[in-house]
Amino acid sequence: MLPLLALTLAGALQAAPGPGQQAVATAHPIATEAAHQILDAGGNAFDAAIAAAATLGVVEPYGSGIGGGGFFLLRQANGEAIDYRFIDARETAPQLAGRDLYRNISGEVQRDPAINGPLAAGIPGLPAALVHLAEHYGRLPLSQSLAPAIDAAEQGFAVTSRYQALGSFRVEAMRRDPETARLFLRDNDIPAEGSLIQQPELAQTLRALAEQGRAGFYAGPVAEQLLSSVQAAGGIWQQADLDNYQVIERQPIRFHSHGFEVISAPLPSAGGIALAGILQGLETLPKAQPGSTAWTHNLVELMRRTYRDRATLLGDGDFVPVPVERLTSASYARELASQIDPQRATPSSSLGMPKVFSEGSNTTHFSLIDADGNAVAATLSINLPFGAAFTVPGTGVLLNNEMDDFAADPDGVNEYGLAGGEANAIAPGKRPLSSMTPTLLENDQQLAVLGTPGGSRIITMVLLGSLEAIDGQPVERWVSRPRFHHQYLPDHIQIEQAAFSPQQQADLEALGHQIRPVGRDYGDMQALLWDKRRGELSAASDPRGVGQASVQLKTD
Ligand code: GLY
Repeated sequence: MLPLLALTLAGALQAAPGPGQQAVATAHPIATEAAHQILDAGGNAFDAAIAAAATLGVVEPYGSGIGGGGFFLLRQANGEAIDYRFIDARETAPQLAGRDLYRNISGEVQRDPAINGPLAAGIPGLPAALVHLAEHYGRLPLSQSLAPAIDAAEQGFAVTSRYQALGSFRVEAMRRDPETARLFLRDNDIPAEGSLIQQPELAQTLRALAEQGRAGFYAGPVAEQLLSSVQAAGGIWQQADLDNYQVIERQPIRFHSHGFEVISAPLPSAGGIALAGILQGLETLPKAQPGSTAWTHNLVELMRRTYRDRATLLGDGDFVPVPVERLTSASYARELASQIDPQRATPSSSLGMPKVFSEGSNTTHFSLIDADGNAVAATLSINLPFGAAFTVPGTGVLLNNEMDDFAADPDGVNEYGLAGGEANAIAPGKRPLSSMTPTLLENDQQLAVLGTPGGSRIITMVLLGSLEAIDGQPVERWVSRPRFHHQYLPDHIQIEQAAFSPQQQADLEALGHQIRPVGRDYGDMQALLWDKRRGELSAASDPRGVGQASVQLKTD
């Protein structure tokens, strides 16, 4: 364990001179290369973020794209001071979407239109975010920062085993839409590893964005094509939805814990609020060896309680009142921790039964830093792998199915069994609750930048990675450590096979915990560490994915 480090007050951290090197970790080597290319061309971290985000949307059509949205957490090194900014580019519900959007005439919620086809798609936020980043933070024109993504769309990328695995999960839905099948399947089936996927129409759309800014996507021929295809296939987008879409700059969640300031995602993400409850709560409990049964029990019980709050209280804070200050306070975390019985798991049923909502399982994340110390943690999504499995012909835009992150049925149960409720009901213009948790941990001596895809498990993965960082472990360990998760309902600990030893499993069961292996490893964490004392950068990509992390001297 690192000794507790002297804290500086929020906002008063002095900017050390930058690391003098640059580091990038993304879920795909082509995107990592794109970000380095833009940094080498004189761009800053924010230009590199544009390049990485747009390129990931091309080479990971199963994870993110300009048909989707996401969150960018920025660290701006402004001479003497550091600014943290959060850009909310979450999709919004169309104006014609109401709380009963997916109910049939008998009042039952229909799963299929909530996840497949254009009725499942929120209004995309990523194109607006790329323009916003270029206009307010970058140094380079969009024509330069989007060039690597345009090249990747034109030249194509090779199908990986990850593409195949995620495609297999969605192949039935992809077959239903001819344009999606033409672009992303071969002979109506999952392409062989190494097959080339080219997207010339997407290159054209990216070019329009590069040349015209937001008008290249939200107006003109691209918008006309989006609207006519969406409406012809049963969707409800209107030009006013595209005109009205705005990214929102929000205050990130900030709190102090374990000797670091933690800076993380605010609503409409549940991530920062949950991290505040768990990390601050853990500090108030008797010290336990990381990885021990007592430590695991404490974490699971804190997860259970913060996911209960998430289910009952959280939604888009611009639409529903959420007591964020209280939920993120040290006193509330202490209250949560004080309810834990060290000898016994608390049945979730004894904590009140909330309603249930749904959440996607795929997404992407990247972490990067430039030589001056500007850094970005960004988590981006089209929700399920290959989103709504609906691509608008002539544009290459694969639509998200982020509407499924709302509680389509505040009284029912969804396929992931994740609980949610009234605060996250559908409403026009509202943003669905998310788990995406791009996060920074910083003190005078270190900066950690991390995040991951993985649906409802994102928050607990970022938590476990953060605890490794706090414990002084190398960045490779943050991304690779075996994972466990509890989300209040269903009431069991979900684990990767290697998470617990047989003895530890038996000890946890003796405390009353039920344990279920999830059957496969999960997540694709991308992380970096700037050790300010040693002047060193290190970066790592999750070995579960096909990503690439690298540290490079800036080449001028
Ligand atoms: N769709 C994944 C998330 O927002 O958490």
